[in-house]
This record gives sequence, structure tokens and C-alpha cells, in this order.
Amino acid sequence: MALERTLILVKPDAVQRGLTGRILARLEDKGLRLVGLKQMRVTPELAKKHYAEHVSKPFYPALEEFITSGPVVAACVEGPEAVSVVRTLMGPTNGRQAAPGTIRGDYGLSRQMNLIHGSDGPDAAKREIELYFTPEELFDFAQPTAAWLYASDEA
Ligand code: RTP
Ligand code: MG
Repeated sequence: MALERTLILVKPDAVQRGLTGRILARLEDKGLRLVGLKQMRVTPELAKKHYAEHVSKPFYPALEEFITSGPVVAACVEGPEAVSVVRTLMGPTNGRQAAPGTIRGDYGLSRQMNLIHGSDGPDAAKREIELYFTPEELFDFAQPTAAWLYASDEA
């Protein structure tokens, strides 16, 4: 096991609905360390890079329209197995099928307006963090509570 970083987007629907703080709090409450954070607009160019695997799919035009429709909050969080931990906290893509207790399950009814993005694997996480953050925008600082969040052989 190792400390991992993953990319989060609080999507335009969640920003507009005033859920940014509650969504970020879920990640912090879990023990994940926030190492990068900014509000920004996703341009069509950035959307095509981020969602490169989906660009040729029929739903892509609607996805691009949605993700560029208002500001997002981009975050980078770190923790043991952070990529899969965040995917579990998010719940499945469609909010109607997401279990209560997950972010999408608690706050969403939609497959498209599903509140949060989290990288789906370590390679995607590295690629996406580099798309959204410069090295200077990521912070390495002591997290004294880490000693009480997981054992030293878990990270
Ligand atoms: P994300 O990448 O945003 O974290 O979401 P995800 O992994 O759960 O879902 P993914 O399959 O990667 O799809 C990316 C986003 O595209 C929209 N979508 N629409 N109409 C459709 O069939 C469809 N499928 C996916 C969703 O907004 C989804 O989050
Ligand atoms: Mg995805």
C-alpha cells in the first residue's frame, strides 16, 4: 500500500447547488489530505483532454456542455489508496443507482449531473492532476493527524 493522490472535480451542478463545502468535507472527514484546491472553468479544450476516452461517444457533446457550463472546484487529495477510496465515497455514475451514504447516492438523481469526478485509476489520476494543477499549486505539508488515521505500514 502507498500514499496516492487523486483528482477531484466538484462539478458545475454541485457548485451551483451550494454543495461544494459538504462534498469537500466528506473527503476531509474520511482523513484524506487536501493538497490542492481551486475554483476554475473547464474549457472545451480541457474537457476534451480530461474526457479523452469519451470524446467519440454519443453522450460526449452533452457531457462537454455540462462540464463547461459553470465553474468547477478542482481538488487534489492524498491518502492510502486514495483513488479507490474516493471512488467508493462517490458511488456509481448514476445517482439514481448510488447507495445512500455515498455522495452521489445522498445528493443526486442524475447520470450526467452527478456532482463529483474522481480519477478511476492511478494512471488516470497522474494524468488528470497534471492537467488541472501545476506543481506549484500542490502542497506538501505535515499532517500530524496521519499518525491517528492509519498505521505506518499502511502508507
Ligand atoms: P467521472 O469520470 O465524471 O468521474 O464519472 P464516472 O467515472 O462515474 O463515469 P464515466 O463513465 O467516466 O462518464 C463520465 C461522465 O459522463 C457522463 N455520462 N453520460 N449519457 C450517458 O450514457 C453517460 N454516461 C456517462 C456522466 O456525467 C459521467 O460522470
Ligand atoms: Mg470516469
